[in-house]
Amino acid sequence: IQREMSSLPRVYVTRKVPPDGLQILRKSGQVQLELWDSDDPVPRRELLKKVKGCDGLLCVLTEKIDAEVLDAAGPTLKVLSTMSVGFDHLSLDELKKRSAADVYTRIRVGYTPEVLTDAVAELTVALLLATSRRLIEAAHEAKTGGWGTWRTQWLCGYELANSTVGILGLGRIGVAIAERLKPFKVKRFIYTDVEPRPELAEMIQAEYVSMDDLARQSDFLAACCALTPETQSICNKNLFSNMKKTSIFINTSRGGVVNQEDLYEALATGEIAGAGLDVTTPEPLPTNHPLFTLKNCVILPHIASASYTTRNAMSALAANNLLAGLRGDRMLKELHL
Ligand code: DGY
Repeated sequence: IQREMSSLPRVYVTRKVPPDGLQILRKSGQVQLELWDSDDPVPRRELLKKVKGCDGLLCVLTEKIDAEVLDAAGPTLKVLSTMSVGFDHLSLDELKKRSAADVYTRIRVGYTPEVLTDAVAELTVALLLATSRRLIEAAHEAKTGGWGTWRTQWLCGYELANSTVGILGLGRIGVAIAERLKPFKVKRFIYTDVEPRPELAEMIQAEYVSMDDLARQSDFLAACCALTPETQSICNKNLFSNMKKTSIFINTSRGGVVNQEDLYEALATGEIAGAGLDVTTPEPLPTNHPLFTLKNCVILPHIASASYTTRNAMSALAANNLLAGLRGDRMLKELHL
């Protein structure tokens, strides 16, 4: 039995993942499993040690999978499965390079789109409303004695009814956000992307506009794009200075799409009315970061997909992707390099 066990592909899981995924891996009988059984990230040195000679690696978004990790893993690594829809923590160039080199087998990459779309869209709407209707500020006032009497203009915010909502990067998540916002009587949805996405846009009757028009016309602007070299810091001074003074900026994609100094300036000088961020650079954002001093900035600790159902579904999908990849089968969700 010992010999049979040791001939199974070796898999390293870099974090305590929700039970569904773990169970799938354990019950498969297909792999020898080792995991970093903690809620905190595996120390880099430990990761570099543990990946050596692995066939499969299941990771989360805090692990940078770069040349160093891939070198440490060596030529046995066949499958990389991330429990996330975002893949900016994976060095795609290094993966491609290795796949092309003779010494390495092609490394297949799995990720977890779709299963988190509902949870992320739901949280985005919650964050948008918390920001535009100043919920965090209001709750704080109520609790700390700021609630004097009912006042005519106190804690007024901005409403969705009759507004224009702009989506930066229209994908599944952008569509799901718009579908949820529509019943709030939004007047118009607009979006921008590298090119028009007619099929998705039709689902929400969204109009394709330029980046400048998106900034100028949106009352609410939600960043829903993936972080890539092209979208790095795309939400910067140029965007914020074109936005209305009454507009709200929301980011549930990646902190890297925002230039945070420019955002701070825009919020502090009233160039825009407010921002709701579920993602920042770095994460966690240090508690002494200037953005935390602003009442018109609501910051959440990257929780958009954090529902029990969704996180379990993500872990199950990541596990199934990994197993399929190791068997040489089609993965449920494969990132084609
Ligand atoms: C992802 O999956 O990329 C999210 O940021 C976390 O769910």
